[in-house]
Amino acid sequence: MLTYSEDILTNPDIAPIRGNWLGKDIISVEQFDRHDLDELFSVSARMKRIKETNGSTDILRGKILANLFYEASTRTDASFSIAMKRLGGEVHNIVGVQFSSVSKGETLTDTVRILSGYSDVLVLRHPQQGSAAAAAAAIHSQCRLMGSNPVPLLNGGDGIGEHPTQALLDVYTIVQKCGRVEGLSIALIGDLKHGRTVHSLARLLRHYPGVRLTLIAPEMLPMPDELVDDLRESGIEVRTAESIEEVVRDIDVWYVTRVQKERFADEASYKSVQGSYSVTAETVSRMREKAIVMHPLPRVGEISEEVDNLPQAVYFEQAVNGMYVRMAILAGVLGRW
Ligand code: NCD
Repeated sequence: MLTYSEDILTNPDIAPIRGNWLGKDIISVEQFDRHDLDELFSVSARMKRIKETNGSTDILRGKILANLFYEASTRTDASFSIAMKRLGGEVHNIVGVQFSSVSKGETLTDTVRILSGYSDVLVLRHPQQGSAAAAAAAIHSQCRLMGSNPVPLLNGGDGIGEHPTQALLDVYTIVQKCGRVEGLSIALIGDLKHGRTVHSLARLLRHYPGVRLTLIAPEMLPMPDELVDDLRESGIEVRTAESIEEVVRDIDVWYVTRVQKERFADEASYKSVQGSYSVTAETVSRMREKAIVMHPLPRVGEISEEVDNLPQAVYFEQAVNGMYVRMAILAGVLGRW
């Protein structure tokens, strides 16, 4: 018997997880408390063992994931699809929306109302901030109208808003590589204005006492003020630095991101900030010995390839962790933990 928590059956807003993942949309990192994170990471580690021993399992046999991508993706799309298949489920992909009714002018909410009727869980990536919440609300009303169980919607990135599953895999990677998150000195580098991964990650770090954040961004791409205020209010020490060099010996986790070209109105302003920072083997040689270098990928020159084989480079492993964390999320929201 699957037991849905009262809040997702009655409350149209985004429901907190609070230990019950069944049927929950994953829209924002605000939904998680520390217990949810610890629990998710322990299931993710179990998923890794499944992959390494049997390759797959059948706990989601008969379940179907609809992947709906209105923006480019490699990792989020592939890792969700493969995660679903490793759990015995199936996937329907709508990645080239130009081949769907969207090209005829169909709205996002119409599209997801239908897809939620066909499938058991959806992943959505869309260029507009707030689109995931709007899509989830439409699905909830449709499910209520049809008297069916809630079909969870997982936010795979809503414009410059959030990318919650990326932040979960980022924190999981920090825990795996550093053994803890508490007390670490973490630098977020790059387009902190438009980068949804850093917006979600910074919010999640509020659950770990003693984290010190250093923000390094081109002048025109700072972290939004209200987010910085919010971080400080929750007790996180936040400072800014002009360059990597300035703090090179002070940081345990370097989280590097690309300038989000697609969010710029014109090529000239993008060009003016592109390539403003880069991590080379020489930079790494001056970092703390146990420092790690992360990146949500894709990179477009912020980390040179010569870094790839250094022990500090964890960005490819980070992307692989995404599959384990997404396996755990899919199993959780479909009630199979
Ligand atoms: C990120 C995204 O889409 O926000 N990619 C990803 O999911 N790993 C980062 C980016 O595109 O820069």
